[in-house]
Amino acid sequence: MNRILIGAQWGDEGKGKVIDLLARKSDVIVRYQGGNNAGHTIKFNDQKFVLHLIPSGILHPGKICVIGNGVVIDPEALFDEVALLEKAGIKVKGRLLISDQAHLIFPYHKLMDQLKEESSKKGKAIGTTKRGIGPCYADKMARVGIRVGDLKSLPYFKDRLTYVLKERNEFLVKIHHAKPLSFKKIFDHFNKYRTRLLDFAHDTPKYLYDATKAKKDILFEGAQGTLLDVDHGTYPFVTSSNATVGGAITGSGISPTFIDRVIGVTKAYTTRVGEGPFPTQFPPKLMKLIQTKGEEFGATTGRARRCGWFDAVIGRHAVRINGLDELAIMKLDILSGLPELKIATAYRINGKLTKDYPHAIFEFSKAQPVYETWKGWEEDITHCQRWNQLPVNARRYLKRMEELMETPIKIVSVGSKRNQTIFL
Ligand code: IMP
Ligand code: MG
Repeated sequence: MNRILIGAQWGDEGKGKVIDLLARKSDVIVRYQGGNNAGHTIKFNDQKFVLHLIPSGILHPGKICVIGNGVVIDPEALFDEVALLEKAGIKVKGRLLISDQAHLIFPYHKLMDQLKEESSKKGKAIGTTKRGIGPCYADKMARVGIRVGDLKSLPYFKDRLTYVLKERNEFLVKIHHAKPLSFKKIFDHFNKYRTRLLDFAHDTPKYLYDATKAKKDILFEGAQGTLLDVDHGTYPFVTSSNATVGGAITGSGISPTFIDRVIGVTKAYTTRVGEGPFPTQFPPKLMKLIQTKGEEFGATTGRARRCGWFDAVIGRHAVRINGLDELAIMKLDILSGLPELKIATAYRINGKLTKDYPHAIFEFSKAQPVYETWKGWEEDITHCQRWNQLPVNARRYLKRMEELMETPIKIVSVGSKRNQTIFL
């Protein structure tokens, strides 16, 4: 069975834990978009791993992991992660396949990301992770990117880098008054990684086709979330890739006819890291409480995540765009102890009521959530193993989420450990 796992909010929904649970029943785990802007946190044998680039399935012995063509790769970040895993005794060689069509992140991408963010006026900055993700995808679309497979020929790579760097340096010097980057330094840096990178390079679409034909189970591991998707998210406050279901198709080269199920992951509340409107954001005191209790600090940048009530308007948007078959609800335990819980069911925008997510950012930023209020529960739920062990108010809250999203809940997470999970 081939399954796609999608974030239904602004990322950080807890995909890492769900992937870890589902990876056991999969043979192959695939990343298909984003880069080391992502951070998937997995608790494994009482050890905490934060993976940015390599699929979380690598923690499961014997599974094959694929980094698809839709991912952008910073070789330094990749090999740091390989080293970290190997140090923990996890074998990577022979288990990691990297698409030869995946684009590489160069130092000028990172520099441009930083300079652009730092020079942006108030209200214009995106709050990116400054990992060079956006500029790398921009180059891909502008057809001046450099791919993993391009490293096979040193003369081709040299020629291509010369051509691209000339243009980039002109931009850096003229627009940002920065120092030009040295060709030699970049070339030597990539040359250092070249053979190791090529050892992992593979025709991954063919591999996934053959694996499907051989009845292997493939899990497609999304990064970020629906509202950060460059097309379907809160543009321009988004990442530069397709974090929705289509991204899994184009970003891996699998055909949609080979996909059996799409699973959406959402927190029992909402978080967002970086800039951009967030209608259901908590008032400061409640925000502090949930931030602390939920350890809501970015796994990649360490930034505090903004927190808010569950928003069923964006939830339904995620259901529609991704055709979600089922839901995993994460971090329900963090809401224990709150006297009442709110869910946004609609927005009021310029006096008009809507149940649908508005595409224009100037409308979305004006959205006033219309809330319904549900009774909370006092009990600690972190030990609950079955649906019936959950407090009745927690069950009511979940049932309402299910109803508003018109999608069945199959997983409820009540703690960060593997066994703190209720399967329905
Ligand atoms: P970029 O992906 O670094 O260009 O950042 C663009 C926006 O996406 C910023 O608001 C980031 O905070 C956000 N973002 C990128 N990756 C993640 C993630 O893995 N989780 C949550 N937010 C993310
Ligand atoms: Mg994350």
